Amino acid sequence: MPRVAIAIMAAGKGTRLKSKHPKVLHEVGGKPLLAHVIAAATQVVPAKDVYAIIGHEADRVRGAVADTGIGFVLQNEQRGTGHAVMVAREALTPYDVVIVLSGDAPLISAQTIEKLREFHGAKAAAMTLLTAKLENPTGYGRIIRQKSGSHNVHAILEQKNLTPAQNKIREVNAGFYAFGVEPLFRHIDKLSTDNPHREFYLTDMAAILGKAKERVVAVEANDPLEVLGGNTRAELVEIDQRIRMAKCQQLMTDGVTIFYPQSCVIDSAVEIGADTVIEPFVQILGNSTVGSDCRIRSYSVIRNSEIGDGVAILPGCVLTDSRVKAGAILGPYSHLRPGSEIGEGAHLGNFVETKKIRLGKGSKANHLTYLGDAEIGDGVNIGAGTITCNYDGVSKYKTIIEDGVFVGSDTTLVAPVRVGKGAYVAAATCVTDDVPADALAVGRARQIVKEGWAKGKREARKKSE
Ligand code: UD1
Ligand code: MG
Repeated sequence: MPRVAIAIMAAGKGTRLKSKHPKVLHEVGGKPLLAHVIAAATQVVPAKDVYAIIGHEADRVRGAVADTGIGFVLQNEQRGTGHAVMVAREALTPYDVVIVLSGDAPLISAQTIEKLREFHGAKAAAMTLLTAKLENPTGYGRIIRQKSGSHNVHAILEQKNLTPAQNKIREVNAGFYAFGVEPLFRHIDKLSTDNPHREFYLTDMAAILGKAKERVVAVEANDPLEVLGGNTRAELVEIDQRIRMAKCQQLMTDGVTIFYPQSCVIDSAVEIGADTVIEPFVQILGNSTVGSDCRIRSYSVIRNSEIGDGVAILPGCVLTDSRVKAGAILGPYSHLRPGSEIGEGAHLGNFVETKKIRLGKGSKANHLTYLGDAEIGDGVNIGAGTITCNYDGVSKYKTIIEDGVFVGSDTTLVAPVRVGKGAYVAAATCVTDDVPADALAVGRARQIVKEGWAKGKREARKKSE
């Protein structure tokens, strides 16, 4: 078996994006371009045989994908795709075959990389390139076959060098290649910068190897869309939409209703159970999972959260790093910040914000409330406008509310504080001391009534006018 490496060219700046961020870290489908390419590559060869060639903002790029376990090669100066491969010579010499991928073309699949490798092996070629026929080939290198229908390639011509007739060629260079390592490095020094960009073009290897009587062949991708590159903002958005739509189609096939999929943003890793209904303008991001029979209503944004079965998320909820158990009802306009755990059948209503809390089974906080750093038991009722005062300007403290407690409206709980099982807290109480189980806590100024006071005031005002 030949020893196969995969090199991913990812050192370029991405001038056409007009961005301060490196090109391959621009995201489509919720993750960086480069992360998509690495995911496909590591399905074909082990991560230790995958090398990303990095240069522009190398540290940022390396940091973003270091957890994949791949290797890195530094291309300090970015002098073109041919130069990128030149600098990887030392890393690649121990291998027989190198598959070169473009870090800015994220739709490439493991199957297509395998097809490229197999075709290369079967044809005993020195260079095999992947091609595709695109409706609009503008911007891509074009393939000049030796004769039509032949596998053999005469040359790859870059957009800027095309004659008007060549401009009509729809077969493009995908930017994915397989090379025999030995012929590649025996001839790579013949590349020159004699072109409009003054760069070493890897694509010139087709003509160079051809002249040296080495075999250069092309294989067409099964799906031409796999080769799309994200060189401009418009191309990035187009690729993103394709990924999103494919995800929605897959979910629909699996039994999820998505009423207006064009408006929804659902990341690739998200899992959703059957008979869940997603309304327009919903985002479900990161590693979120949603159970079956849920309804996610419009304008909700769910990130890295776990939603159980039969949960209703009413319009405008924002959930981050939270867990919601079966049958709970949230919103409209609930904000679950990291560490919120909402129990089975619990309700969180309008304008309720939570952070780092556990709310027990069947408990309710229906209106205008902040619950942070709190442990709240089962069957608790939290009245409108309740606030856990969890922060003294320096540290955070915990509020504990045991099972069956009734907290009246407009209560403030000054943590650390505990309200015992079955206790009542009267409305508008400021709870500063622990409340024993089954007790009533009232902590508010006693009301006084001044009979006729308002009437007297009105009459006095009238007289003075
Ligand atoms: C390249 C091909 C073109 C092909 C297209 C497919 C060349 C000369 N042209 O054009 O035929 O149709 O891809 O998408 O190769 N890079 C480096 N170091 C460099 C320069 C680039 O690592 O010095 C990386 C870039 O970060 C990018 C990839 O190589 O990920 C391709 O470079 P890019 O500038 O996007 O080439 P294209 O113009 O798209
Ligand atoms: Mg490109």
